[in-house]
Amino acid sequence: MKKYFFTQWFLLAAFVGGIHAQPFKVSGLRCEHLKNPIGLDVREPRFSWMAEAPGLRGWRQSAYQLQVATDAAFSRKSLVWDSGKRNSDASVLQAYSGPALRSATRYFWRVKAWDAGGVESAWSEAAFWESALLNRSDWRARWIEPEQEATPSRYSAAHHLRREFVAAKKIASARAYATAHGFYELYINGKKVGDQVLAPGWTSYQKRLQYQTYDISGLLRPGANAVGAVVGEGWFRSGLGWEFQWGYYGKKKAFLCQIQLRYTDGSEQWITTDAGWKVSNSGPIGKNEIYYGEEYDARREMPGWSEPAFDDSKWQNALAVDYPLDNLLASNSVPVRKIEEIKPVKIFTTPEGDLVADMGQNMVGWVRLRVKGQSGQTVTLRHAEVLDKAGNFYTLNLRAAKQVAKYTLRGGGEEVYEPRFSFYGFRYVAVDGYPGTLRPEDLTGIVVHSDMEPTGSFECSNPLINQLQHNIAWGQKGNFVDVPTDCPQRDERLGWTGDAQVFAPTAAFNANVAPFFTKWLADLAADQRSNGAIPFVIPDVLNKPDALEVGVSAGWGDAGVIIPWDLYRIYDDRRLLERQYPSMKAYVDYIRSKADASLLWKGGSVFGDWLFFHPNTQGVNSHTDGDGFTNHDYISTAFFAHSADIVSQAAEVLGKSEDARLYKNLFENIKTAFQREFIAPSGRTVSESQTSYVLALHFKLLPDNLRPAAVKNLVDDIRARRNHLSTGFLGTPYLCHVLSDHGHSDVAYDLLLQESWPSWLYPVRMGATTIWERWDGQKPDSTFQDIGMNSFNHYAYGAIGDWMYQVAAGLRMGSNGYKNILIQPAFGKRLDHARASYQSSYGEIASGWERKEGHITLRVSIPANTTALLRLPAEADALKESGNPLSAARGVQVKGRSGELLELELGSGTYVFEF
Ligand code: BGC
Repeated sequence: MKKYFFTQWFLLAAFVGGIHAQPFKVSGLRCEHLKNPIGLDVREPRFSWMAEAPGLRGWRQSAYQLQVATDAAFSRKSLVWDSGKRNSDASVLQAYSGPALRSATRYFWRVKAWDAGGVESAWSEAAFWESALLNRSDWRARWIEPEQEATPSRYSAAHHLRREFVAAKKIASARAYATAHGFYELYINGKKVGDQVLAPGWTSYQKRLQYQTYDISGLLRPGANAVGAVVGEGWFRSGLGWEFQWGYYGKKKAFLCQIQLRYTDGSEQWITTDAGWKVSNSGPIGKNEIYYGEEYDARREMPGWSEPAFDDSKWQNALAVDYPLDNLLASNSVPVRKIEEIKPVKIFTTPEGDLVADMGQNMVGWVRLRVKGQSGQTVTLRHAEVLDKAGNFYTLNLRAAKQVAKYTLRGGGEEVYEPRFSFYGFRYVAVDGYPGTLRPEDLTGIVVHSDMEPTGSFECSNPLINQLQHNIAWGQKGNFVDVPTDCPQRDERLGWTGDAQVFAPTAAFNANVAPFFTKWLADLAADQRSNGAIPFVIPDVLNKPDALEVGVSAGWGDAGVIIPWDLYRIYDDRRLLERQYPSMKAYVDYIRSKADASLLWKGGSVFGDWLFFHPNTQGVNSHTDGDGFTNHDYISTAFFAHSADIVSQAAEVLGKSEDARLYKNLFENIKTAFQREFIAPSGRTVSESQTSYVLALHFKLLPDNLRPAAVKNLVDDIRARRNHLSTGFLGTPYLCHVLSDHGHSDVAYDLLLQESWPSWLYPVRMGATTIWERWDGQKPDSTFQDIGMNSFNHYAYGAIGDWMYQVAAGLRMGSNGYKNILIQPAFGKRLDHARASYQSSYGEIASGWERKEGHITLRVSIPANTTALLRLPAEADALKESGNPLSAARGVQVKGRSGELLELELGSGTYVFEF
């Protein structure tokens, strides 16, 4: 009653006072794709926002205004920059252009927008970002090394470092900036700082080493304080690659940190790493490496070690050393965090007698162990992805990776342990030496990955496909651990370029991968050789840092061209494209220098159509020959053409018209050479494999008159294999797209819904919870593929996810950051419904359809400040929108027809079409 009265009164007052509440507001503020980032070293950060206009159709922004200030109240004197009202519909990645930013400063920003009719919104809520150390001279700290010996040996215990300091006055705020050669954890007064794990992440350390910025204001107290750090091997010093390169980046661990205290009286104090720090090499964390795992002896814990008044008289002095500071950069990507927890679904004993917990999900991270027992007892956790045919714990596919966690008890009560300096890829955990009875509540799976914002969902009427989507998403979680990796478990876990290239578009539907790939692509450019060659893995640990000639393989190196282009299309990130452009171009020039005079790139493919399916692959990596094989020079020349094509398009976007023309010509000339060498006048390809047709069609390498024959050959091959694919890493991502683009979505659906091997659903039927490396990782009789290469968590074949979003649900990938959206579902006869949603830079896009008794209902959501083109196999007069004939539907305009499809233009809003 009271509330009713209040509303009435308010409305009356608003009416009398002439206020009209705006029907829209501005929200979703992001700075450099991130929500309120701390420690950003971008000098002209870019701002993105969304308009929320619920219930309105066709909302467009006509103008905006941005303000930046040093206090959240935006007082006149704290105002740093005011863009003024800008007549523009842009709302994504608009750059700051005020006075030069100061280091280590928190800036608040807000935005308002005007709609098409000139109605002005209120200011958005304030968001902020905080600048990092923008100048080299901001670094006052010196590197310190815990190891005293000149050449330390492999497998040292994690080192502990500490120092005490006094906060003399009242603290207003405090920040810590830290990084390490190795993994590190930072502590203040006994508390771990921040919730990030595996810091400082993995980059091409010689050229790019990230430091982290932490707000430690709440951890300090007046008077005595202490700062501590634990430093383990990390990616810096673990053995990496299957040859276990040790010390690739250096043989010694090191730590760098500076703390800035700001007092309420405006004065400052710095605590920096230097020779005044103390070091201990005898803490609880023993041997620790990425592939090995971690050993922990709780009897060696040092209570109070990172608190003041701890007795460190037996500790040694740290060694201050002068490493160059030029490679330091702020971490601008999303941190790796503990994202979720899962409990075992079952604990059982295997036929061989192992006590095993089944987590129910192939996951990446580690296990938190709860245990009670006697001092000195050791519990060993071993990690495996699968059980073998007989139900025994199976680790052969891990190759030399041990994946163990060994915990030695302190004794005397309940103890809880979690590894910190390694991570594990597993579904099953074998527990040896557990005192007492192991219960599910004693083990918790801690899922660890880069903390990307989830953006997409896909769901349909077939539960196996829904499980496939689940498996794709989990493949992404497990292999987006600061760098995109091939696999998370065996002695590899490397940033394989080809794998990332094929999976990136799917990844971008599932989560916001802009910051993640922006970081990794900078490493790619950093590790690219001066001749333009792009190594197999990024960060490159397979070649000597100064090696000029490095192995390059078509489809792998092309990641340096294809991924920036994909990201540009998805996020409209022109600055990223501009930054990567020299690298993209250098790669194509590299191929040009390796190709022969007629523009064929012979010998350019090392891996071919990696792991394509053919029936006799036991013990073979199956990329050499046989049924389904695609000629390697065919592949490399096709990718050469495709990358040249992309560079010409990128040049066009960036206004480099001379380059655009040159690379367009190059593309045309490669195409001519390709046709002459590899395509018969009948439209047959030399290899006649599925991948050969897919690449030629998708990369537009065929003359128009031969396309139908090529499509027919592809379809015939699939039908002859009774709706099975034979493609590998390079052909698979485009296979269903090519079919749909040429009117054969029915064939694409038959492939997608195929349940016998090779197919996407075969592993699902075999109980997979992630994507397998091979089509036949586990045979129908439950025996395994070759132990040399058989990962059960490899995202590459998950690239089908992109087709599921784009074609099955119809939510097509953006071409200018989704400012103009295309909705075009293929209403598969073998599904009753399919729906997808995607959180774009403008807001949520959704497309979902349902078939009932021959009628289709399509629900579409288009975010404010965008428009969509909808293509449907329908007649305008038989189509209804929200129950009305089309002519009465607000925000809908009939554009015409494209072939059999009716084209409608939609403004923002939610629509329900029936036909
Ligand atoms: C990796 C890949 C990678 C391949 C290169 C493998 O060992 O696991 O996924 O792309 O090597 O062919």
